[in-house]
Amino acid sequence: MPENLLKGKKGIITGALDENSIAWQTALKAKEQGARFVLTNAPIAMRMGAIKELAEACDTIIIPADATSVEDIEKLYDEAKEYLGGNLDFLLHSIGMSPNVRKGREYGDLNYEWVQKAYDVSAISFHKMLQVAEKKDFLNEWGSVVALSYIAAQRAFPFYSDMSEAKAILESIARNYGLRYGKMKKVRINTISQSPTKTTAGSGIDGFNDFFDYADMVSPLGNASAEACAEYIVTLFSDFTRMVTMQNLFHDGGYSYTGISQEVIDNFVNHRS
Ligand SMILES: NC(=O)c1ccc[n+]([C@@H]2O[C@H](COP(=O)([O-])OP(=O)(O)OC[C@H]3O[C@@H](n4cnc5c(N)ncnc54)[C@H](O)[C@@H]3O)[C@@H](O)[C@H]2O)c1
Repeated sequence: MPENLLKGKKGIITGALDENSIAWQTALKAKEQGARFVLTNAPIAMRMGAIKELAEACDTIIIPADATSVEDIEKLYDEAKEYLGGNLDFLLHSIGMSPNVRKGREYGDLNYEWVQKAYDVSAISFHKMLQVAEKKDFLNEWGSVVALSYIAAQRAFPFYSDMSEAKAILESIARNYGLRYGKMKKVRINTISQSPTKTTAGSGIDGFNDFFDYADMVSPLGNASAEACAEYIVTLFSDFTRMVTMQNLFHDGGYSYTGISQEVIDNFVNHRS
């Protein structure tokens, strides 16, 4: 195992809800690799309490912030800077939520207020985090920012509904802000397109378990776990990936580039006969 990949680095990790969360696993790995960071989540997630255990394990504090509120982000950055003693080197955006998906509204019957909410929480919040960082000159040179995406940004999936558009916006923000922040301050910005993962956000999608098994059967390496994703995120926060920016990086066991696997064909044939 590599050691101290993030020694001396400071950051913010959003989105740790419980131990299944990609952000939770990332916090544990980042701590193991020598980083110092603060945790943040929406005030409602805070009331659910589990995140306090993580803060104890990581020897840090939690600063509540609704990622759709510019005011909350400003306060988050000010308090994080004070607690960590200076500007930061990494930010993780691990936030997603669609009321239409949660409440089982069909893609042909979307509630448009909820669509706006899904975009704001899952994508525009990323722009807000970056814009506030720029205005406050909050990130150090060669800092690294990562957000979590899903392949429904590029390909059509029947169950992902308005989250598909939210992820397309998110990835576009990574490209456009990556161009701007790279020129300005050598800050790099990427999205990781992760396998289906059994978390609260993932399991909220209709038919998730069946699709999880299907994706596992398609991917030559199988589905990537939250823990493996956390390890990948740590490499992107480290100095070993300094020239990677504006990318959408598939972390999916090979799913994105597989046409079909023999296992899926065999399964189909068995069911037909
Ligand atoms: N689970 C999957 O199958 C999967 C696959 C690809 C990408 N992703 C993405 O990974 C990211 C993390 O999700 P996860 O799977 O770890 O699930 P999760 O439910 O553990 O995390 C989602 C987090 O978003 C937070 N959040 C929601 N609204 C917020 C707001 N207004 N302000 C601040 N935080 C808010 C929640 O409190 C929660 O902690 C999301 O962007 C998700 O879309 C997940």
